Order: sequence, then C-alpha cells, then structure tokens
Amino acid sequence: MSATSLAAPDGRVVDYLRLSVTDRCNERCLYCMPEGYKGWQSREDTLTDDEIVRLVQVAAGLGFRKYRITGGEPLLRRNIVDLTRRIWDVPGVEMLGMSTNGVMLEKLAGPLRQAGLCGVNVSLDALNPEIYHRVTGGDLSRVLAGIDAALAAGFERIKLNCVLMRGVNEQEIWPLVEYAAARDCPMRFIELMPLTRRDVLDESNFFPIAEMLEILRAQDEVIPVEKDKEKIGNGPARYYRLKKTGALVGVIGALTETCFCDRCNKMRVTADGKLRPCLGDALEFDLMPALRGGNDADVTNVFLAALAKKPLAHGFKDVYQPARPMTAIGG
Ligand code: 5AD
Ligand code: SF4
Repeated sequence: MSATSLAAPDGRVVDYLRLSVTDRCNERCLYCMPEGYKGWQSREDTLTDDEIVRLVQVAAGLGFRKYRITGGEPLLRRNIVDLTRRIWDVPGVEMLGMSTNGVMLEKLAGPLRQAGLCGVNVSLDALNPEIYHRVTGGDLSRVLAGIDAALAAGFERIKLNCVLMRGVNEQEIWPLVEYAAARDCPMRFIELMPLTRRDVLDESNFFPIAEMLEILRAQDEVIPVEKDKEKIGNGPARYYRLKKTGALVGVIGALTETCFCDRCNKMRVTADGKLRPCLGDALEFDLMPALRGGNDADVTNVFLAALAKKPLAHGFKDVYQPARPMTAIGG
C-alpha cells in the first residue's frame, strides 16, 4: 500500500466515495422509497457545502480518487452546480460523477459539465410513459429531455440504469437496450435490492439477471466484455457487448451474483454525515462531530475506523425477507 492508497484489512483498495447531498427526492420509485416515508432530515442535520468540501479534501488526502454525487435526487440541492465545481477543484479528485433521476437535468446538464462533472448515471426504468410513471411517479418526457441535454453537454460517459421488477418492466428490457445503443450509452440492469417497501419486496417481484440475459440472447449474440479492455469503470457491474446491435449492456446481480463484494472499492457518506463502509450493511460511522468540532485528523480517524470495519460482503441474501424492511440510504 502506497502513501496515497487506502486498503481494507483484506487488501481491497478503497478509492471511491459516494456522497449523498440530500435525502429528498422529486420521484417516488417503488424500489427506493420506504413505505410511508416521511423521515426527511432537517436542514441542520444535513452536511453543509463547506463540510462536504472539507471531507472530500480529507478523503482525497487519504487516497480517494473517484467521487459520485448522489441523493435522494442530488439536483434538488441548492447550489448543486457550485458544490460540484468546488468538489472537482479539490486536488486529488480524478473522477467526479453524479447519479440522478434526470428530471431536472435538461437545464443543469450544461452547467454541471462546465463545473467539471465527468459523467452522469441516469435512472431509466422504462421507455413506456405509463410504466415509467408506475415505477417512479414521474414524467418520462422530462427525463428523456434531460438525457438529450446530457448528450449535448459532452460528458465523458452517460450510463443508464434500470432496476428490474417482474410484472412491472420486463417488457421494457429490449426497448431500453436499443434506446441506449442508439445513443452510444451503456445500459445497466440492476437486480432489485432489499432497500424498500415490504409490498415491493416480495420474492415474486424479483427478476434475476440470468433471465434478463436470456431475453437479450433471443434477439442478439451476447458477448462478455473484459473490463480492462473497454475501460468501463470498476464498480460491481459486469458488461456484455451485443454483436448485431453493438449495444453495451451492464448487469449488477446484487442478489444472484455473490462475488462482487470482493471487487468493492467504495464507501458512502449519507446526507447527514454518516460514513457507511457497505450499502448492504447497517454499520455507520458519524463524521459530523469531527466535521463540526474537530480537526482534519479527527475526520481522518473516522475514515480509518470505517475502513478497518469494511464488511467482506453485503448482507442482502440474509435480509431478503419481505417481513424485514430496511431503511433507505439513498441511491
Ligand atoms: N434496488 C436496486 N437498485 C436500486 N436503486 C435504488 N434503490 C434500489 C433498489 N432497491 C438504484 C437505482 C437508481 C440508483 C440511484 O439506485 O438504479 O438508479
Ligand atoms: Fe428518487 Fe432515485 Fe429513489 Fe427514485 S431511486 S425515489 S429517483 S432517489
């Protein structure tokens, strides 16, 4: 381990930090919002811009190179363009992405690109407006306009994400692949993770990646991609190239593919300043006292404590029981 790389006790290099900048959202995705969710944080509990920039400075000093701004819906945060620019300006930040539902992207894509944002991941669970509305409660046309604006803004990479749910959006799989391929964007399909309402978390709603790949194979030849060759990031996704269409399709088999935890390079910060070493584990470390009262060494110590306890694997398999809901963490 060099002075500028951080590793968990088992040797995994951790250099990717996801920053939730708000727990609020302007959509209501079936797979995200807990039942009757009203637990919005108060403004005082939310990290300020200065606190976020400070924790990024400490994290960058420790060896975090890649950052992603998430939510809730990050574009709801006031001054998000300015905050993006300030994060990008921190020395050591080599990649800065954002995950958004795309609803407010039409006006913001250009300014965000100007501010240094390298890429956006946009949630796109359906291309049929009614199905899109059923999943998210939102208006598909605004998201499509947002994706067009992102394409025009010249981001290095725009990825589209779809969470699979049986009986809800499986007929959208092939249209989504064609839409993404026509725009030269990777299309990623994600298995439903147990982070949401009980009624959605029934095993009968679960749609496995293997079945999704069968749908693609009925249309085209599906060829596994070696990641290093195409430089498509090192997150949990595996990629396939479709021979005829040329589409690049990513899969995140959060439940049926057990082995991605050993490639996990990330930690998360919630909007109220809790550092989470693993999405699928309730363990949290509070950064707030160090950010509000302490010095940079205290902030560093919280990172190191969290790293030392980074779980070897998520607990989704064990908690995948409708009777046991989990709280929301934000995308
Ligand atoms: N299961 C799988 N993916 C989820 N996301 C949010 N909630 C879930 C869940 N329960 C993903 C969506 C969204 C991103 C922000 O997080 O893909 O695009
Ligand atoms: Fe909002 Fe994203 Fe959650 Fe949907 S998945 S409710 S868009 S935060």
